[in-house]
Amino acid sequence: MRVLVCAAVAATCLAITSTASARENQVARGRYLVTIAGCGDCHTPGHFLGRKDPRFLGGSDVGFGIPGVGVFVAPNLTPDKATGLGTWTNQQIADAITKGVRPDGRLLSPIMPWKSFAHLTHRDALAIAAYLRTLRPVVHQVPGPFGPGEVPSVPVMTVVPPTLYATFKPPPK
Ligand code: HEC
Repeated sequence: MRVLVCAAVAATCLAITSTASARENQVARGRYLVTIAGCGDCHTPGHFLGRKDPRFLGGSDVGFGIPGVGVFVAPNLTPDKATGLGTWTNQQIADAITKGVRPDGRLLSPIMPWKSFAHLTHRDALAIAAYLRTLRPVVHQVPGPFGPGEVPSVPVMTVVPPTLYATFKPPPK
């Protein structure tokens, strides 16, 4: 009898340890994928302005302008409930990354490279979601998206004709 109890306790401990280490492996895989996919470049404030900002994946402060379509700012991917992904399920995060669909049904602009990320395995997309959940929540609501006629509240990167580029003078600092 005692042998049986010991065996049951040992099996439970083993199961808990292996679940914990499977989760650690999943988060490590997610961190690896986020690093090589460059999510931080578009989704971290300061990145496009050459400034270091500790709010990793806390939402950009520069928009991508698609002429005739609008301006899209890469949102906050940290688990803050009000301004980030805190209320999204792992499945909803995976769907946004690989299908470009937000929980409210809006299709994400292809500036977010979801058509490339559609080639991720479901397991890897869920690993990314699991990693994003471990980030320190950042309170930062990005503005937009802005329609074609609207004046965006952030600097914009876009494609301009060569003559406009050649004559453009950056504003004095
Ligand atoms: C080239 C820039 C770029 C890269 C790289 C990028 N994103 Fe995005 N992402 C965006 C933009 C811009 C949006 C907003 C598009 C829109 O509003 O239509 C977005 C939207 C999202 C959304 C939806 C969030 C929301 O609140 O609507 C998620 C989730 C997301 N990206 C995750 C990721 C992950 C994870 C990676 C890396 C695997 C990544 N993105 C890489 C630019 C990028």
